[in-house]
Amino acid sequence: MTLQLRVYVPPHPLIKHWLAVARDAGTPSVLFRSAMTELGRWLTYEAARDWLPTQETTVQSPLDTCLATVIDPQIPVAVVPILRAGLGLLEGAQTLLPLASIYHLGLARDEETLQPHCYLNKLPEKFDPQTRVLITDPMLATGGSMMAAMAELIQRGADPTLTRIVCVVAAAPALQKLSAAYPGLIIYTATIDEKLNSKGYIVPGLGDAGDRIFGT
Ligand code: PRP
Ligand code: URA
Repeated sequence: MTLQLRVYVPPHPLIKHWLAVARDAGTPSVLFRSAMTELGRWLTYEAARDWLPTQETTVQSPLDTCLATVIDPQIPVAVVPILRAGLGLLEGAQTLLPLASIYHLGLARDEETLQPHCYLNKLPEKFDPQTRVLITDPMLATGGSMMAAMAELIQRGADPTLTRIVCVVAAAPALQKLSAAYPGLIIYTATIDEKLNSKGYIVPGLGDAGDRIFGT
């Protein structure tokens, strides 16, 4: 079986609504942060569908014993927010994954070269190979930052087929790069935008996500 990158754009009214709020240039930081939180929540909900590990058990209801499915506590779940902007999606993700370990990865894109450089790496030395990893970053533009994040994860034993990316705007150049390098990867995004401008910003996109989240 040949693997192919899968990109899901869930057709959900809440996701569409909060994307519209985030795209609007007139949205102030405080509301932009709410939009990121809500998008983090609903996109993580969608991503968890075929990703969160479960196990079968039995429970005793007040009336009878019945079969039940619960989240498997033995399999590690990790969230990797790409700083800074990935922090905007973290709160929403954490409300659904309260037991997940959070490993921060700080990447900043050089404004001239558009190459990312890493200024903080809190990843573990080695991931358990069964670990479910969720990466959060609202913007996939050239794809350089996500490619760098994936390389760090793979080097530490993360399985790309058990990895999910939650973003808000995924641009075509980033999807092409990720598809060529990680065909088993699955991405959940609120939208796919086709192009970048000459400064590497996604058009129409939503501007500089980190600046809008943190009011800088
Ligand atoms: C933004 C964004 C991504 C990256 C996407 O971060 O959050 O990490 O750019 O661009 P790319 O796909 O071309 O690499 P930025 O480097 O601006 O840092 P910030 O989150 O601190 O604002
Ligand atoms: N980073 C952002 O925050 N926005 C873009 O459009 C591209 C990269």
